[in-house]
Amino acid sequence: MAFRLALPQIQLVDFDPEGVLLIRGQAGSGKTTVLLERAQALLRTYPRATVLVLAFNEALSSRARRTLGAAVAEGRLEVRTLHDWAKTLARHEGVQFPPGFWADSTTRERFLGNILKRPSMNIQGTRLEAWTVSQWSDEVEWLIGQDIQSLEDYLDTPRRGRGRSGGPGREDRAKVWAVFEQYRKELSAKGKHDLHDILGLIRKASEQSQKPQPQKASFDFVLVDEVQDLDLAWLKAVASIARVGTTFSGDFAQRIYRRHFTWKAAGIELPPARSRFLAGTHRNPRAIVALAQKVLGEADPSADTGFESPSPDAMLDDGQDHVYFIQHPQVREARKRALLHAVDCWKGGRDVVIAVPFRRIADESIKVLGELGTKAGFLQRRDLADRDGAVLPLTTFHQMKGLECEDLVLLGMEDDLFPGWFLSDLQGAELEDKQAELRNLLYMIVTRPRRSLTLSMGGKVCRFL
Ligand SMILES: Nc1ncnc2c1ncn2[C@@H]1O[C@H](COP(=O)(O)OP(=O)(O)OP(=O)(O)O)[C@@H](O)[C@H]1O
Ligand SMILES: [Mg+2]
Repeated sequence: MAFRLALPQIQLVDFDPEGVLLIRGQAGSGKTTVLLERAQALLRTYPRATVLVLAFNEALSSRARRTLGAAVAEGRLEVRTLHDWAKTLARHEGVQFPPGFWADSTTRERFLGNILKRPSMNIQGTRLEAWTVSQWSDEVEWLIGQDIQSLEDYLDTPRRGRGRSGGPGREDRAKVWAVFEQYRKELSAKGKHDLHDILGLIRKASEQSQKPQPQKASFDFVLVDEVQDLDLAWLKAVASIARVGTTFSGDFAQRIYRRHFTWKAAGIELPPARSRFLAGTHRNPRAIVALAQKVLGEADPSADTGFESPSPDAMLDDGQDHVYFIQHPQVREARKRALLHAVDCWKGGRDVVIAVPFRRIADESIKVLGELGTKAGFLQRRDLADRDGAVLPLTTFHQMKGLECEDLVLLGMEDDLFPGWFLSDLQGAELEDKQAELRNLLYMIVTRPRRSLTLSMGGKVCRFL
């Protein structure tokens, strides 16, 4: 590490290893840094302990491995994504993973589409008839994510997070439940498993091993980053792995998926003294923090989980302006100028990333860049975390979660595109929920750069700016 940890960070690295610790903090405050330092500190104090670091995705897992290199190489510590961990565990217990084992959202929609055609599902003439397959798929994901095990459960569970608003009325839930049960039955008959159902996989492994807790399922210490984006079922899956201590870190203002949990529902006791907040940022210049604060507005991303808005005091400041708006009445022209700016940065050897709300804009831009004679590429997962400057990297907002770069160029900041494109067809509480989620997404993405942020917009500017 090229810097010294600040005192509040050191205190969390060394915080009582037994029991639960939650490290909250604004973007760039060093949550991940502290979490990874803590993993190493635990190994120093308890050389024979087993330690598991759960990263949110492959990009962050790659970042963690880079930091923890030696301990990983010596086999004293495991770094895994949640899926990867569940799969390793299940495989160890003899669960087979034939090709096609995982049912992703496309497979889920295909299965549901077939089931819904059947008259026996009794959907005709109900409000559910108007649901699209993707709405059905969302509801199924919510049921899995909340670990809903029976119709009674379904009727009783308060609708928060995904589907907090909307969702089927009580009288329709029995019908939805019948479809869900049929889906699970058919999936299992085909030897498939829903990709979202991590807890289900752990349970499968337990059944296979005929022990309450599968072998290899526990570690002395478990450290989980980006906890705000776990679903309840996932949190339940990790809640009981650690024999001695579990450390979570996250920022509820960066909750960018419609997932939800409460600590209590996951069976985790979290006294206030064990929920600590890191203020300030070690990443973003002042102008970027100011913009990020504006994006969050008055929003209170999670009253129930504890959130404090970024503090304006502790941030980097070299007196320069680091936020640039590229505006032009024509979207195409605004984008082109932003791309040319990115090319300049890249040619100057800077670590620049171009981020877009969805893939299509990246593909179009890669074409434009090609015409301009620049080799650009869409990077995601590990390739994005380990980017080496060989191509000018483009990616989606979501892929940048937890990562950072030197200069960031955002395309698509037109209001009808972001958030407009994501809000069509929504109204009432559902619309508000989605807007809150997109606000968090914009907050997350604008807090990625260490040096400069450039936003391109043609026409009306995104309402969150
Ligand atoms: N005490 C420090 N001094 C200088 N730089 C630091 C310090 N702590 C962390 N950093 C650096 O600040 C940046 C942000 O740290 P980190 O990624 O750990 O923040 P985070 O809170 O996890 O952010 P995010 O909310 O985006 O996940 C990193 O580049 C990290 O190396
Ligand atoms: Mg982090």
